[in-house]
Amino acid sequence: MLIRIPNVLTASEAAEICQLLEGADWKDGRQTAGYLSQRVKHNHQLREDHPLSIRLGQKILDALDTNQLFLSAALPLKVIPPMFNRYADDQQYGRHIDGAIRHIPGTGHRLRADLSATLFLSPPESYDGGELIIENLDGADSIKLAAGDLVLYSASTVHHVAPVTRGSRLAAFLWLQSLVRLDAQRGMLFKLDNALQRMGHDHPDHPALVDMMAVYHNLLRFWSET
Ligand code: NI
Repeated sequence: MLIRIPNVLTASEAAEICQLLEGADWKDGRQTAGYLSQRVKHNHQLREDHPLSIRLGQKILDALDTNQLFLSAALPLKVIPPMFNRYADDQQYGRHIDGAIRHIPGTGHRLRADLSATLFLSPPESYDGGELIIENLDGADSIKLAAGDLVLYSASTVHHVAPVTRGSRLAAFLWLQSLVRLDAQRGMLFKLDNALQRMGHDHPDHPALVDMMAVYHNLLRFWSET
């Protein structure tokens, strides 16, 4: 699963966040990486319990909570509050896999990371490099989005962030556990939901619409775990 979700934040909301983050108290990103990832991780992160991180993270969660495309694609069950990172001066994050199990800060609970997400905050023309490269069976996808856009991708993929050779790249990132663990099932539900929305728009009175909607919800009942 690799889905681009535009306008999670407006460009001006993203710019406002960048302004607040630029002067923040950044820490070495290796503090939150596993032993293998530490060797290839070169960036800065805001501490997850930093007041700015909590405040801005909540703003992003609120935006995602009402984003129909995100909700339909991710079918989120539990979400780790967003964290923030910064790459500049040739910093990069080499090939790695995100850990499968994550602590949910402040709760004592854990979640299974099914999906990873990166919300791009810096305008792409303000820095060089910094592409998120997600490997797939055919090669790789190179992702560099407008400020305020988010990419949602399978946490099971090997990926890396290319060196930032000019300017700085600010982003928020998060992991979530989906109601539907398997990508293939979640992908089918997403396609079906999209098709139903289009049908509902074009033929709202067609009697088969309700029956197809029933199939969607009953598949979700079969496949979801809470
Ligand atoms: Ni990663």
